[in-house]
Amino acid sequence: MNQGIIGKISGEEANDSFAYYKQQKCHGSVRSVIIQLHEAIQKLKQEVKNLRLSALTFSRDVQHHGKTYLGQILAAVQRLQMHNEAMQTFQTRAFELEQSLHEVNERYQKEKQRRKVLHNSLIELRGNIRVHCRIRPLLPFDTPPGESDLKDRQRNIPENVVCEADDETVFVKCNRPGHALINKTFQYERVYSASDSQVTVFADVAPLLTSLLDGYNVCIMAYGQTGSGKTHTMLGPQSESNFTFSMEDEQGLGIIPRASEEVFRLLSEKPLGSHWVEVSVVEVYNNEVFDLLAKDSYGRMSGVKRDIITNKEGKSDIPLLTHEPVEDAVEFLELVNKGLQLRVKHPTLVHAHSSRSHLVITLTVTTMADSEDNLATPWAGDRSSPKMGRKHFLTSPCSVKDDKPSFPSRASSPTLFFNESTEKLKRMRTKLQLVDLAGSECAGMSGVTGSVLRETSFINRSLSALADVLGAISEQRSHVPYRNSKLTHLLQDSIGGNAKLLVVLCVSPSQKYITESLQTLGFGSRARQVQRGHTKKRNQPALSKSK
Ligand SMILES: Nc1ncnc2c1ncn2[C@@H]1O[C@H](COP(=O)(O)OP(=O)(O)O)[C@@H](O)[C@H]1O
Ligand SMILES: [Mg+2]
Repeated sequence: MNQGIIGKISGEEANDSFAYYKQQKCHGSVRSVIIQLHEAIQKLKQEVKNLRLSALTFSRDVQHHGKTYLGQILAAVQRLQMHNEAMQTFQTRAFELEQSLHEVNERYQKEKQRRKVLHNSLIELRGNIRVHCRIRPLLPFDTPPGESDLKDRQRNIPENVVCEADDETVFVKCNRPGHALINKTFQYERVYSASDSQVTVFADVAPLLTSLLDGYNVCIMAYGQTGSGKTHTMLGPQSESNFTFSMEDEQGLGIIPRASEEVFRLLSEKPLGSHWVEVSVVEVYNNEVFDLLAKDSYGRMSGVKRDIITNKEGKSDIPLLTHEPVEDAVEFLELVNKGLQLRVKHPTLVHAHSSRSHLVITLTVTTMADSEDNLATPWAGDRSSPKMGRKHFLTSPCSVKDDKPSFPSRASSPTLFFNESTEKLKRMRTKLQLVDLAGSECAGMSGVTGSVLRETSFINRSLSALADVLGAISEQRSHVPYRNSKLTHLLQDSIGGNAKLLVVLCVSPSQKYITESLQTLGFGSRARQVQRGHTKKRNQPALSKSK
């Protein structure tokens, strides 16, 4: 029984110690959980502390930046206000400036009109036909070594018998034994001596080009015997090998290259696309007209014969004549030089580069202008002119050029590319005709016979037709015989009426050519009577000088 009690007690003890053991174990794990929880709480507490700190810093930052940005925004708003105010001031100023610009522009337009009127009345006062005379220097071919010249030198007879007395007077004095004494003076608007340069000669030509762009037809021609300096005056020194002139020698350039430069310079001051220029080069040889810019089927320049007619408006016209559009003086001169290579020439005894034809280079300027712009001579043949489109007015005609490389006749000129929408624009065409006449010498002098004698007789006939036309205008005859020769028919639009004609008489100073020089000077004096008739009719004061 004891053993049972003892066994019972030991079993209870074992149970208790097992329970105790279990309890201890449970306590241990609870403690470690508590420790872990404590640690986690500590960590969380630290994190909360950190977060609070950064929240504090953040809020401080926000406050700080907020203040800065606000300040910047306020400053920007202030600046914007100031800008707005300045903008308003500028707008007011711009409006005022625009208004004054408008007023200045109006004044400028009025002044431009006045300038145009004054310039052209001045040109008119000087006479619509002006005659200048250029005495060239004595050249080696004036005095070939010969017996008679030797005798003259021995007798102290001066070689220079034609000289400039002053810048309006030519003095011719020759007293050769066996010949009547010659002692004459001739008066012209301007006389150039042998030392006067191409620049001086052109200075008196330039005002005519202003008239051209004001709407007047202009003709500048050189008259004189072969070798007197016509081609030198009109073109400049010519090359030995062909008829072209050198563009490199700027000082030597004559009226034609200088005039083309001046025309394009004047045009560059006008609105872009409001003007364009075409050129034709024509030669009158044996009273036939040749188109020197015409090309054959291979595109080579071939010099085709053309007819000259009077159109419905009473103007001279050459159907099918080649009119090449040109955009600058270089293009113009290249074409002129190409045409010149075809020019008929024949060496006379006077000098080897003598030209036997009249060369007429025509530069046609077409202008689109407001109808208020007082254009002197609107092109009469322009039926569509009152309805030209502004859009196309501002487009350079060069844009058409690619499709139409050249304009074989007036009918296909660029003017037809304008649309018809406004009433305000009108088209005007003015012509600048630059003429290098064939030599006016007598046949006997040049020692020519046969076909060349025939040429000479055609030349003399056309030159006397020119003298007749000038005479008829001078006497204000109702009929002017323009159609008596192809030359005068061709120049009809630029001689007489409103047109301005400048004749440059070219004379040699040499006593050897005194007969020819007297003939040339006489032609010039008769041409001047035209001017006197004109001014008298208008009851205007004495002529002013060109200088
Ligand atoms: N003012 C001048 N100064 C220098 N040489 C000139 C002058 N005028 C003409 N000459 C020269 O005289 C020669 C004949 O002139 P040119 O112009 O061919 O005469 P034209 O055309 O009247 O037959 C040329 O050699 C030319 O260079
Ligand atoms: Mg010549």
